[in-house]
Amino acid sequence: MDAMTQTAPHAPPSDPRQALAFRHVSKHFLRGDGSSLEVLRDVGFDVPAGSVVSILGPSGSGKSTLLNMAAGLLLPDDGRVLVLGHETSGTVDWSRLGYMFQDDRLLPWRTAVDNVGLALETGSMGKRERRERAQAQLAVVGLGEFGSSYPHQLSGGMRSRVALARSLVTEPDILLMDEPFSRLDAQTRTTMHTELLRIHRERGMSIVFVTHDVEEAVILADRIVMFSPRPGRVHTELSVDLAHPRLGTPEALTLVAELRAAIAGMSADWVI
Ligand SMILES: Nc1ncnc2c1ncn2[C@@H]1O[C@H](COP(=O)(O)OP(=O)(O)O)[C@@H](O)[C@H]1O
Ligand SMILES: [Mg+2]
Repeated sequence: MDAMTQTAPHAPPSDPRQALAFRHVSKHFLRGDGSSLEVLRDVGFDVPAGSVVSILGPSGSGKSTLLNMAAGLLLPDDGRVLVLGHETSGTVDWSRLGYMFQDDRLLPWRTAVDNVGLALETGSMGKRERRERAQAQLAVVGLGEFGSSYPHQLSGGMRSRVALARSLVTEPDILLMDEPFSRLDAQTRTTMHTELLRIHRERGMSIVFVTHDVEEAVILADRIVMFSPRPGRVHTELSVDLAHPRLGTPEALTLVAELRAAIAGMSADWVI
């Protein structure tokens, strides 16, 4: 049992079926010239426990802002954000969340195993156990032989695996992923999709996967929440009831085409 989980008490969530819930969430930012930028308007949706929900939206529609709210890094101006039934402004056991960013954010002076172990350093775990867990997690993502390599010695896909291992090593119930594979080539991205779905099958955590790529959302998600251009609002929400693997299947291709048509109808400014 994870020491951090044991030492972090939390009240039973009010609705354990929802990993995350967004209720009438709005957010503005103040710009340099003092004017206000409306980024999110009245956003509401749920992330059922154990599901993969993709937030699909154009650049600037507030996707990263919303994930930062789920991680407790930002508060909404209006509305509520609930993590496992708890308001993010109140008491949340943050050790139950993992976050994978768009850039891998690996520390160049640390080896792969020490980059992964970093995620465990806020807890009370001893150094040896941290290293053992980090090493085991690297093996889960297929990098068991590369623990002592430095980031510059690894390919883009391998670095992405290290970042994935770092976000998984705390065994989070909820994994927030912000366009984590967008910088990878198509082949490597497909491999990472397969790996992520395998780990999801094994662990059953909830995943929120932000992307601007329609095909990526269709390949991964149980549910897609499609945002309008800024200010981000929920334009369409749909379930994806297709068996895996989906890449290249006629059903997935049809859904991709339908979503692209919906985007074209929504706005000409869907930019990535
Ligand atoms: N801290 C901030 N201060 C001011 N503007 C911000 C801040 N964070 C994000 N923005 C702006 O808010 C908008 C939405 O940003 P973001 O949530 O990153 O969108 P997305 O992830 O969908 O591309 C962008 O126009 C961005 O420039
Ligand atoms: Mg973003």
